[in-house]
Amino acid sequence: MTDTITIRRPDDWHVHLRDGDMLARVAPYSARQFARAIVMPNLKPPVTTVVAASAYRERIRAAAGSGFEPLMTAYLTDSIDPDELARGHAEGVWVAAKLYPAGATTNSDSGVTDIANIRPALQRMQDIGMVLCVHGEVTGEEVDVFDREAVFIDRILAPLVRDYPDLRIVLEHITTRDAAQFVAAAPATVAATITPQHMMLGRNALFAGGLRPHHYCLPVLKREEHRAAVRAAATSGSAKFFLGTDSAPHARADKESDCGCAGVFNAPFALEAYLQMFDEDGAIDRFEAFASLNGPAFYGLPPNEARITLARRPTGVPPEVDGLVPFLAGGMLDWALA
Ligand code: DOR
Ligand code: ZN
Repeated sequence: MTDTITIRRPDDWHVHLRDGDMLARVAPYSARQFARAIVMPNLKPPVTTVVAASAYRERIRAAAGSGFEPLMTAYLTDSIDPDELARGHAEGVWVAAKLYPAGATTNSDSGVTDIANIRPALQRMQDIGMVLCVHGEVTGEEVDVFDREAVFIDRILAPLVRDYPDLRIVLEHITTRDAAQFVAAAPATVAATITPQHMMLGRNALFAGGLRPHHYCLPVLKREEHRAAVRAAATSGSAKFFLGTDSAPHARADKESDCGCAGVFNAPFALEAYLQMFDEDGAIDRFEAFASLNGPAFYGLPPNEARITLARRPTGVPPEVDGLVPFLAGGMLDWALA
């Protein structure tokens, strides 16, 4: 039995670090585990300009301390200026741009109402090699909330991949077999991030013994067969799948509420949770690729040189961390970050 594992320092290819007081509270947890992170731009107001993105990057650096590099994303709107995207990319501020279908999730009101509105932006991103990160859910009452990812793939993503054959696209936080199969079969320009909660929990976890707001995130947890397919994709060894926690902290009162916010705060023990699942599935030898190699390779960045070690040691997850409820609060994990 493997009792320690040493791998290149991982990166988090999808995280919400928020701003202000919340940023100061949560950034150190990401920085403790990861060297770099793709930082989501869904602040209020959203990060749509190079000036706003560089200022936000400085605030993150200040909150996270040295040794952590935030990789910034632009928030795509119906009126986003392709020149602004290109300038931010050329200046090394923006690594990627994020497509939020308007109304799909937290702070997505300014998102894209129709893909046709961002065609010039997508064309420019393809030309300059800027990655597109996608929240892959359609909106609208006529589509069942559990079907929104699969419908998005059919209606939006498949045509996008066809129309922009050289655009690198990351389907974020996949939750369905449909998504896992689509990405696996797609050209090498298409990849996906996978969260620990979507690998570990099916939708029953939302109702286990009562309503469980800290398991609520978007895309919402799916039925068991989908969870299993997503987990199999993560541990498959395919270079198309990599680590993206989607850690999305909200104040406890905003989660435990009449209309609770979507988001799982998993940053404090993300690596331990992922590794536990790779271990359970006999895939420890594929953990480094998922956590530390596939993401940089897709983004065209070098893997980190530093190494980290995790040891097999029972680790308790506290019920609360800095006033926030972490993923697996009160539970036990088999691994500890040395
Ligand atoms: O659960 C989620 N929370 N999903 C998202 O897409 C956004 C995120 C947030 O910002 O809270
Ligand atoms: Zn997210």
